[in-house]
Amino acid sequence: MREDGEIAKPAILFLCLGNICRSPLAEGAARAAFARAGVDVTLDSAGTGDWHVGHAPDKRAQAEARRRGIDISELRARQLSVDDFYRFNLILAADETNLRDALAIRPADATADLRLMLDLIPGRGGKGVTDPYYGKDDGFASTWEDVDAVASALVAEFSPKG
Ligand code: 4NP
Repeated sequence: MREDGEIAKPAILFLCLGNICRSPLAEGAARAAFARAGVDVTLDSAGTGDWHVGHAPDKRAQAEARRRGIDISELRARQLSVDDFYRFNLILAADETNLRDALAIRPADATADLRLMLDLIPGRGGKGVTDPYYGKDDGFASTWEDVDAVASALVAEFSPKG
């Protein structure tokens, strides 16, 4: 919060393992939710792993977003970096493993808060967003439900209070 009572433009990073399924869906859901609310934020996503760096989101994730009217095909995977702990206010990990891997490289003077995505949802704190990568296509619908709920919670938290 600044002295004039406005929240400085928040910057939120969504984190998963490959940055091709859960975190790009979370970024897409959040981009749409913040745009609907007319709130200006910086949003991005990353993975703890480097296998998919430079790749577009998984085709099944793209299809799930498209079903909701959202195009995530232009997103490209990247790996979490130490810089991210200074560039973002909040880093939201999809699951406990992602959180632990991020903690392992977090600098001591990091300015970003690091939490699980579902910590924002009452009753689901401490839970992970299930990784749909190795599952059937219908796993992506349930991933979407989770990340869309997270997006709504973020909009409520980061909208200027009237
Ligand atoms: P994500 O899913 O972490 O939600 O992007 C995965 C994507 C790729 C792999 C694992 C999970 N992988 O092992 O390549």
